This record gives sequence, structure tokens and C-alpha cells, in this order.
Amino acid sequence: MGLRDSFQAGLARQLGHPSGLRGRIVGAMLNRRNRMAVVKAVTALELSGAETALDIGFGGGLGLSLLLREAATVHGVDISATMLDRARGTFGAEVAAGRLRLHEGSMTALPLDDGAVDAIVSTNTIYFVDDLGAAFAEVARVLAPGGRFVLGIGDPELMSRSKMLTDNGFRLRPVGELKTALSTAGLPVTRHEQFGHSGLGFHLLTSGPR
Ligand SMILES: C[S@@+](CC[C@H](N)C(=O)[O-])C[C@H]1O[C@@H](n2cnc3c(N)ncnc32)[C@H](O)[C@@H]1O
Repeated sequence: MGLRDSFQAGLARQLGHPSGLRGRIVGAMLNRRNRMAVVKAVTALELSGAETALDIGFGGGLGLSLLLREAATVHGVDISATMLDRARGTFGAEVAAGRLRLHEGSMTALPLDDGAVDAIVSTNTIYFVDDLGAAFAEVARVLAPGGRFVLGIGDPELMSRSKMLTDNGFRLRPVGELKTALSTAGLPVTRHEQFGHSGLGFHLLTSGPR
């Protein structure tokens, strides 16, 4: 493997599971590069201020900081110990106050009770999840009646032109496949927004209110 390929493989690995010092740098980069997409995704949840929200795959933590402005209680779930550690450092006061609860875990086995949250956002994370059915079933399980789920993804058609992503295990599923899987899990899509982002297209699929 050439130097360029091995750099790209390393970066792709970090995007899916940031770890160590490089992971921290990737976390900060994600917050900058994905700002517009994450802001729009959190806005689409239409939080009331008194609700409980969850960010799955929060990475650099931008989504957590936006949710903390608009929800009473916020949960963050991520598989990366480095991202959890970074978030504990950034949001020490909110964690101490009990407003932010951070959990190490996967979208396919969420460490939360049934009906525990009113709103869930997950941006740029589903590419790293093999079992879509298990992931969306978990989202449906932890969502309370009246809850909303916003799934944010880069345009799969445009992303699939990137060799770095296709060679390194990104699961780039057609939007229609995601909509069908959401529907099967009892989370039919009620709104589909599309916009330009970082030279690529971005999709927000909103399910609910349930
Ligand atoms: C590319 S980053 C996206 C971060 C942020 N949501 C954003 O849009 O900037 C993907 C994040 O999802 C996390 N992740 C990957 N697979 C996951 C899974 N199965 N469950 C929960 N988090 C996961 C990674 O550790 C990483 O922090």
C-alpha cells in the first residue's frame, strides 16, 4: 500500500472510530467541517426546551452543544472512548449538573431504557453500522411516543465517487434503502431535506412525530 493509500485508510478508520491524539484532532475537524449539517439536523428536531434528546455518534461533540441549548437533558452515545473523554472535558459542568449523560455504546445496542428520549439525531454515523435493522430497531425502542428521529447522511451517490470512502469500508446505502429500513422499524420518513454541504450533497431524513 502506497503512502497516500495508507494515509487515507488511517483517516477513514479515524472517522469511523476516532482514537488517541489523532482521534482528538479528527473530532475538532468534524466539528468544523460538519457544522452546517449538524446545525440543520438539530434544528429539524424542533425541540421544545423541556425535552430529553440523544445524539448517536456525537464525534467532536458539536451536536451535544447544540442540543444542550434546546433540550432539558441530553444523552450522547458513541463507540469511541476518545470521543467520550473529549466530551467529558468539554462539557464537564453539564455532566456534573446531570444535564448531559455520556455513554460508551453502539447504535445497535443503545445503553438506554425503552422510551427514554423524545428526540434523536445521528449525523454521519450510519456509514459505520453494518446492521441497519438492529440500529433502527434500537432507535425506535428508546424513542418515547411523540418522538422524532433525524438521520443525516452525505449523498451516497456523490460519496461513492470517493475511492477513499469506498476502499475503506464506508457503507454507502441508497437513500431509498434507508427510508425502507426506517419504515420497517416503525420510523417512516415524514420529511426529506436536501442541501449542498462541503462540496457534496447532504440529506436529512426526519421520522415522526411517532
Ligand atoms: C464521522 S463521525 C461523525 C460525528 C458527528 N456526528 C458529525 O456529524 O460530525 C462518526 C462518529 O460515529 C461514531 N460511531 C461509529 N460507529 C458507531 C456506532 N455503531 N454506534 C455509535 N457511534 C458510532 C464514531 O466513533 C464517530 O465518533
